[in-house]
Formats: sequence, structure tokens, C-alpha cells
Amino acid sequence: MEFNSTILSNVEMSPNYWRIRLTAPAAFAAATPGQFVMVRVGGSIDPLLRRPFAVYDVGSTTKADGTTTVHFEMLYKVVGKGTTLLSRLHGGDSVDILGPLGQGFVFGDDDEEKLLVGGGIGLAPLYLLARELVKRNSPVRLFAGGRSRNDLLCLDEFERLGVDCHTATEDGSHGATGFVTVALNQHLDALAGKKATLYACGPDPMLRAVAKIAADRALPCQVSLEAAMACGVGACLGCVTPGKNHSAHTPDYRCVCAEGPVFESSELKW
Ligand code: FES
Repeated sequence: MEFNSTILSNVEMSPNYWRIRLTAPAAFAAATPGQFVMVRVGGSIDPLLRRPFAVYDVGSTTKADGTTTVHFEMLYKVVGKGTTLLSRLHGGDSVDILGPLGQGFVFGDDDEEKLLVGGGIGLAPLYLLARELVKRNSPVRLFAGGRSRNDLLCLDEFERLGVDCHTATEDGSHGATGFVTVALNQHLDALAGKKATLYACGPDPMLRAVAKIAADRALPCQVSLEAAMACGVGACLGCVTPGKNHSAHTPDYRCVCAEGPVFESSELKW
């Protein structure tokens, strides 16, 4: 659905990382973990400028008179024109939203351990997933990585859900020094072959590494991809990524916005 949304707050939470809270129609409460929205951030400056953002959280408030309002949140990193414009908006401003869109995460067997792996802004779609998995009584662990502690977002909120958080930073400013996949591998070694499902979102090299770990250990793994998107609804094919059978002679492409952004890692060409 397309709707006009009012910004409730828009704050910088750590250098270059922002958190925005917006109003939504009641039907938005059905958004599922891993889905995203397209935000028209340009307004009258550049009305064609739409950007995809993962849904971080969805909630509702009921007033004394019984009326309920739905709101949702997104985390974003200021990296270019669209996100710079978004960061200049204030509470009370309005933006045009299309969503929730795309295919989100699949929850799997509730008893199995769920290992969430997020890098930087890739932590954004994992919070709603963690909340849903905790509600289902699944054991959930988060492996959060980044260049420095500034890239580790909202860890306290994951912890408040009861999620065990492991962190790694390249500069050693928080948690283990190095890549988060080292801690993931150590934990999988300790599980000694017990089944677990991996869920990952973050930069390409991290996703590639997590997909390889999953393949080597024959574990199910879902990855949420980031892609440049123009339409967000499967119409322009500007967001395609190679599928597992892709070759120069046999094109096999997956449409990230409509078939994803979440895919089984074994379905993609890495
Ligand atoms: Fe247009 Fe995906 S962004 S098809």
C-alpha cells in the first residue's frame, strides 16, 4: 500500500546512523520481519527519489478513547543524497511510503537455535526477527559486527529481548577484534553438530562468508540482501541478483524486491 506518513521522530543515534519513527495505517501492523518500505525522500526537490529501508520495528499505541495508532521504525546510515535528505526531516514532516514490501524471513523449527548475524546497518531487519523468534520461545543469539563500536546498533534492545549478543569489531573497540564470523564459527563448533538456522544481513563479504559457513556445515541459512531499487515491486528489474544456476549461457536471476529481499543462501550464486 502507498500512504502518506508523518514523522514522529528522527534522531542520530551514533555518528551517521539515524533512527526514524513514522506513523502508518492500521494494516501496516501486519508487516513481517525482513520486509521493507520504499520511502520517497526527495519531496519537491526530487520527487522520483525513492529508497528502500528495512522495517526495524512496528508497534501501536492505544489512547484512552480506544483509538489505536500504528507506527514503525527504520534505522538508516547517511551515505548519499537520499539518506542526507531524510536526515534533514523533522518530527511533523511527512513522507510518502510504499510498503510493507517483499518476502521476509521464514521462522523454521521453534526448538532449533537461531543464530542472527548482522553487520552495521544490516542489524536493522534482525530486531523484528529476534522479537518474533523470542515470542516463539526459540533460543536466539545475535552475532553483531562492524568496523568499530559505532556500527553496533541497538544492542541493548536485543539484550532486553533476552537475546545473547556476541560482538566483534575490526578495530577492537567492542567485543572480539576481527570479523564476526570468527565468533559465529566458534559457537557452531561448540554446538557440535546440533541443528541451527542462520539468518544474516550486512555487507556482501560478510554475507558471502556466512553463506559459506552454512554450506560447509550443511545448515539452513537465510540472507537479506541490500540492492539498489527503483520501483520496489518487481516492475523495473533493476534489482536482480544471480541465482544458483546462473551462467553466461543460462541466465538465472532473482528479483531482490519481489522474490526477496530474504533468500535461502543456497538459492543464490556467491
Ligand atoms: Fe524494480 Fe526490483 S526495484 S524490480
